[in-house]
Amino acid sequence: MTDCSKAELMKTLVCKTDPKRPSSKVMEAAAEKILGGKLVVFPTETVYGIGANAFDERACREIYRVKGRASDNPLIVHVYGIEDALKLGRFSREHANALSKIWPCPLTVIVNGRGKLPETVTAGLDSVAIRCPKGRVIRSIIKKAGVPIAAPSANISTKPSSTKGEHAIGYFRGKVSMIIDGGEADYGIESTILDLRSFRILRPGAFTQEQITKAFGRKPIIGRLAEGTASAKRVISPGTKYRHYAPSTPLFVYTGDRRAVCSILRPFGKSAAFIGSVESCRMFKGTGVRCISLGTSKSVRIRVHSLFDKLIELDSLRVRFAVIEQFNGKGLGYAAMNRIRKASSHKGFSDSDGLKRLIDNI
Ligand code: TXA
Ligand code: MG
Repeated sequence: MTDCSKAELMKTLVCKTDPKRPSSKVMEAAAEKILGGKLVVFPTETVYGIGANAFDERACREIYRVKGRASDNPLIVHVYGIEDALKLGRFSREHANALSKIWPCPLTVIVNGRGKLPETVTAGLDSVAIRCPKGRVIRSIIKKAGVPIAAPSANISTKPSSTKGEHAIGYFRGKVSMIIDGGEADYGIESTILDLRSFRILRPGAFTQEQITKAFGRKPIIGRLAEGTASAKRVISPGTKYRHYAPSTPLFVYTGDRRAVCSILRPFGKSAAFIGSVESCRMFKGTGVRCISLGTSKSVRIRVHSLFDKLIELDSLRVRFAVIEQFNGKGLGYAAMNRIRKASSHKGFSDSDGLKRLIDNI
């Protein structure tokens, strides 16, 4: 197969493909692997996923092992369309109608039931997370394999999700049967998770609250959980209780006035890094502080798109700690704030005393 390479010792077939026009040979090889009980890593429109045939108990178990994922943290099942979803979970007619109009899109829904899915996929819950992705690579694999695909984000547990082929290769070469490198994922942030039973957002993501309201004619409930705050009394979405998206470098969120951050960080020089908009980065010129630009402050979509990539890059700088600028607003900015809070283990500051206290506790 062209555009594929395989280091025998590594046991992983790595194939490049154009995500907009995926090579049918690569897609066929991926579908064959899935049906053969193997794991395949692929791009979706949100982030990369690590997938298996959702009906194959052993293969799904392997996903948990390879990711180092807790066994009580269920997987999302990816389907081609609403028809397949109806076989896996119970939907009201109203919800099924609304979904048939908006899917495929980056909205995952939680519903009761699990059809013929093995318990491993839902981690023993009597509900299932179903997503109908838009990315052409994953759609093509589902179609060719003819089975739903269980796939969490393609990252080692607690680490930032892969948004580029090279991230996925870094995490999983030698550990899965095949990796499809389709370049950069469109959004760079995971799908939104909406519990259709309570109409509550469990995880904000690439599909905004406004889009949900428009699609269902009803505003979703947004709880503390969706904001990424530390504790929720009853864990509805098991994944939310775990540490997530975290670089190895200690990370703190800056919540104060943008103009003041430069003087707060200046004394630390090159032992500190700042992650923020290109405009904020400019303020650090000549201070020695390492600056990682997420892109223009004018586009939240651009900054969110580069967030995980930059969190992964941060660890290569080998600084003592890093500070990330907060995201404002609704929509994607709100989703990014949820990830940042978790990546920083909920550690934020707004002045130099606050930062000193955090550094003392590193
Ligand atoms: O964009 C995405 O959603 C990506 C791509 C690959 O599709 N997938 C993804 O999967 O982000 P993952 O496993 O990293 O996150 C899925 C979340 C977890 O927090 C999990 O606990 C939750 O969905 N989840 C899965 N099944 C659930 C269920 N039955 N009830 C509540 N939460 C559930
Ligand atoms: Mg994940």
